[in-house]
Amino acid sequence: MRERLDYIFSPESIAVVGASRSRRKVSSEVLDNLLTFGFTGRVYPINPKASSVHSIKAYPSVLDVPDDVDMAIIVVPAAHVLRVVEECGQKGVKGLVVITAGFSEVGAAGTERERQLHALLKSYDMTMIGPNCMGVINTHDDVQMDSTFSPIPPLKGNIAFLTQSGALGVAILEHARNVAVGMSKFASLGNAVDVSGNEIIEYLERDPETDLILLYIESFGDPRNFVRIARRVTRKKPIIALKSGRTEAGRRAAVSHTGAMAGPDVGAQALFEQCGVLRAGSIQELFDIGMAFSQQPLPAGRRVAIVTNAGGPGIMATDALVSYGMEMARLSPKTIAYLEGKLPEEASTQNPIDLIADADGARYKIAMEAALKDENVDALVVITVPPIVTDDVEIARAIWEVAQEYDKPILSSFVSRAKESPAFMELTGHGIPSYLFPENAARSLAAMATYKEYLAREEGEFRVFDVDREEAEGIISAVRRQGRTRLHELETLELLQAYGFDVVATRMAQDLEGALAHAEEIGYPVALKAVHPEIVHKTEYGAVALDIRTPDELREHFAKITKRLSSKGFEAEEFMVQEFARGGKETIMGVSLDPKFGPMIVFGLGGIYVEFLKDVVFRLTPMTDVDAMRMIESVRSYPILEGVRGEPPSDVASLAEYLQRLSQMVEDFHEIGEVDINPFLVFEKGKGCKVVDARTILTSPEDASRSSA
Ligand code: COA
Repeated sequence: MRERLDYIFSPESIAVVGASRSRRKVSSEVLDNLLTFGFTGRVYPINPKASSVHSIKAYPSVLDVPDDVDMAIIVVPAAHVLRVVEECGQKGVKGLVVITAGFSEVGAAGTERERQLHALLKSYDMTMIGPNCMGVINTHDDVQMDSTFSPIPPLKGNIAFLTQSGALGVAILEHARNVAVGMSKFASLGNAVDVSGNEIIEYLERDPETDLILLYIESFGDPRNFVRIARRVTRKKPIIALKSGRTEAGRRAAVSHTGAMAGPDVGAQALFEQCGVLRAGSIQELFDIGMAFSQQPLPAGRRVAIVTNAGGPGIMATDALVSYGMEMARLSPKTIAYLEGKLPEEASTQNPIDLIADADGARYKIAMEAALKDENVDALVVITVPPIVTDDVEIARAIWEVAQEYDKPILSSFVSRAKESPAFMELTGHGIPSYLFPENAARSLAAMATYKEYLAREEGEFRVFDVDREEAEGIISAVRRQGRTRLHELETLELLQAYGFDVVATRMAQDLEGALAHAEEIGYPVALKAVHPEIVHKTEYGAVALDIRTPDELREHFAKITKRLSSKGFEAEEFMVQEFARGGKETIMGVSLDPKFGPMIVFGLGGIYVEFLKDVVFRLTPMTDVDAMRMIESVRSYPILEGVRGEPPSDVASLAEYLQRLSQMVEDFHEIGEVDINPFLVFEKGKGCKVVDARTILTSPEDASRSSA
């Protein structure tokens, strides 16, 4: 059975509604592209004012077409779109690509038109890409459809490209052609009123012609659904994304540490990390990486050998590789001895292997084969600066000939050689990615190694812990009933306890006698904190005393705190007596709500410098056990948790479990806006963690009703 997107990507007949008789119109470009790219099905131009368009019989309306029409490309002015779509519905057209602009992107009137368009689609059960898009492409031999108005025809290949920006789409198609990157499918999403990027990614997952997916994203329609889908798809096909628009307008003013540390891009960053999507920083990089993935096998590891005919670029490549986390392969003594016997005396037989300026194809072959045979080498970067004596096409030929015999990735850089140069064509024509500069090759190789490691990692599971959800519910609804959004410290501790957190022993006392009794029970040293509804930052008010070791010290601090508060016009309502926890390392764990991405868990090494150092990592909920471990390993100061200078390692497994418990808590209660556990002490391996100080803020009731909708 045909899927709904088949009618868009593989239609048997297409009506171009609004096909103009004039040249140089968007519609004439679309029609022209369909014809010149060799669409295998039937094409019907629709134009009420013409009996033929570009020598093809035209019809006044889609209703007049004598045959079935699978798909209509709509290129009429915005005011006519609804009527045309209605006619398509009546005709039984299944798929629409609406290129016309003038919908929600232009304000209220356009939004209303878009709403009506959506309603029409639903009533006729049609599938639509757009509006305000630049069309779709399917290069498959059975279809050969270019329904865009791009002046550059695509090359056939195994990369699918999805773009949220139509205008950029044209540039992308042009760039792809220039660097000889071939496409299986292309889609410009436009306003994505019906078909979303997520739906197309799922379609591409099943598409045998597509080996990898490139995305240009400006904003996520449904980020959580994207994560769910991408987690699955990236296990089969790499996804490489370029995400622009790093600022999220309307960011909530953050109240806690965790919120304050969430920069504008952390949501997207977390999302990509969690679902194995590789991120490119520019269009150039997107294609650089895409080219490597589309043509070369993945490296088994990170050890790279370089073969070059000049020292400088070899060093540049080394620097770039190392900075991207690759390693310089240590060539085996056998390889070195072999090279010494074969290469001129001036050559370097160490990695980078420098063949010197007069190297010809034969010399490249010797070095490449030796490096590829070496079991210490996972990948090869071959560099050529324009040779003085020999022809670089000969070198290019030598490179692809050797490459055919090995299944290790080979990336080349013919430094400064223009894309159209014969050497470049010789290489790309034989499946060897060729880059203008070695750094680009290094970056692309590193992306491949990262993806390979991602595939090797376990997928991870969403663990569900046995928690006291009812207790948590009771706490939260009591706070809501009192019209508060901020939980008292004790309430936060109880909430965390309900989700299995180990918290410092805490008792509430009404007076000094009570405090003394509690301290005795808990055991010294203790901490004493005065509680008053208007005092949020207790330390600033001098309402906290730490490390109290004796009853006398407790009496003394009790008196001091009471005096300090009364001098500021406050009288403590209660006193909190807490175990004064010591030992372990201070971490910070929390929740921060991103307006676009929803709840994010944060983890980092804590202490007073946390906001300054910002050594924290964010992840979206829900989180798998693998996400949690990766998250901990990703903080820069992770070695501190592993134990430095003879220190015992910390209980990282316990930290990982608590991250998942926190994730479960916010998934259960969407009204939790921020949680800030700081410090969260982690003890030696096997000894767990403990909450020392924590605060929780609920979303405002309006936010809560929105998020549960
Ligand atoms: N059914 C069929 N054809 C119709 C029609 C209808 N209901 N109403 C008008 N037409 C015909 C016109 O007669 C005309 O043909 P002609 O030139 O032979 O007379 C043709 O459709 C085009 O109409 P025209 O008024 O010339 O429009 P246009 O070509 O100047 O602009 C769009 C049409 C869709 C390109 C324009 O409205 C638009 O939206 N441009 C922006 C597109 C864009 O940027 N999209 C996003 C890309 S990322």
